[in-house]
Amino acid sequence: MKYINKNLSIEKVKVNYIAKKFGTPVYCYSYRKLRENIINFKKSFNSFAPLVCFAIKSNTNVNLIREIRKFGLGADVVSMGELMMALKAGIDPKKIVFSGVGKTSNEISYAVDREILLINAESKSEISEIERIAKSKKKIVNIGIRLNPNTDAKTLKQISTGKKENKFGVDEKTFFDLVSYSKLSKNINLKCLSVHIGSQILDHKPYEEMLKVVDKVIKKSNHKFEFVDLGGGMGISYEKNNKKLNYQKYNIAIKKFLKNHKSQIIFEPGRSIVGNIGSLISKVIYIKENDKKDFIILDAAMNDLMRPALYGAHHRTLPAIKTSQVSKKVYEFVGPICESTDKFTTLKKFQKLKEKDLVVMCDVGAYGMSLSSNYNLRPKSPEILIKGSKINVIKKRQKLEDLI
Ligand code: LLP
Repeated sequence: MKYINKNLSIEKVKVNYIAKKFGTPVYCYSYRKLRENIINFKKSFNSFAPLVCFAIKSNTNVNLIREIRKFGLGADVVSMGELMMALKAGIDPKKIVFSGVGKTSNEISYAVDREILLINAESKSEISEIERIAKSKKKIVNIGIRLNPNTDAKTLKQISTGKKENKFGVDEKTFFDLVSYSKLSKNINLKCLSVHIGSQILDHKPYEEMLKVVDKVIKKSNHKFEFVDLGGGMGISYEKNNKKLNYQKYNIAIKKFLKNHKSQIIFEPGRSIVGNIGSLISKVIYIKENDKKDFIILDAAMNDLMRPALYGAHHRTLPAIKTSQVSKKVYEFVGPICESTDKFTTLKKFQKLKEKDLVVMCDVGAYGMSLSSNYNLRPKSPEILIKGSKINVIKKRQKLEDLI
């Protein structure tokens, strides 16, 4: 995304043009950026050729997933809906892993029928249920067991998953018990150890810690794991000068780990594949002046982009057309929803805005649209994929008739 003659543009298309043609709010994705992210990710770890399973939860658009599939990626799913969407996008079942602490019998049964690569189980009860279902279908099901490595991912507490107080995975002792249990089962084939310590991880050290624990646990378990699924979590840069996770350092740590283990590595990245490909274009409805700050009331709200309200996340916000006038007042960018947390960001010295101007929130490709809702009975925004100067509507704006 860059300014071309003062017009913010996504690839070769002006934001202004998109807003006029499709209305606002509208989600836009850059294909070029998507391609660059995938190629860069694969290249960074190519010495051990991991199976890369895109975390569908980060973006569930079937057309976008289709594009991702074309680069050979599989999928990490956490519900029947996500599994159905991955299959609809044409992802090979043999490249699908199913994660999550609360898979229902229905979901397990559906996954078993589709013969996906792995069901990554997270408790004794879940393994018993998989076994019961497999037996009733006279099948042998490939599973993983998710270890909780008790590693601090040094990220936001709401998106940390690898500490023992988190609900995810099982502790070391339970892990060993479950390995012994699974080995005795006729309907279960234990193939994988999985971990996922959190999201938006910017420092490689938590991953090093995690790998030390995984190394120790595998050695102690005395089981040959065909796969080691390291989850996702690779952090991206949301601020202009922020650093993203250093893939090179993570790669070195994994290569060291692989000297002792002959397993195939699986990754489940979401944000690092789609986070920085997306922008949310929104229009200023009103400007409400106030003593200390002006409220810039946008037509996008927390139902469109939940991350700021949910995690206090900040998304870079830019004007669609650059001018040289700077506002003397502080701007608070808010949505029309009846909640005080319906607030995106507060900025000083932003370009002076007027009603009907357009603003763009950056890096919303992951957990933007997928976390959106119909709160306040607001229809969901359309999604648009841009390839050079080509525009593809990959999801239409929801109609009020669909809701009422
Ligand atoms: N694998 C598992 C088992 C996960 O739980 C997650 C994310 C991923 C992979 C993908 O993680 P990523 O590479 O995208 O960091 N809504 C939050 C993020 C929640 C992440 C949940 N699990 C946000 O907007 O920041």
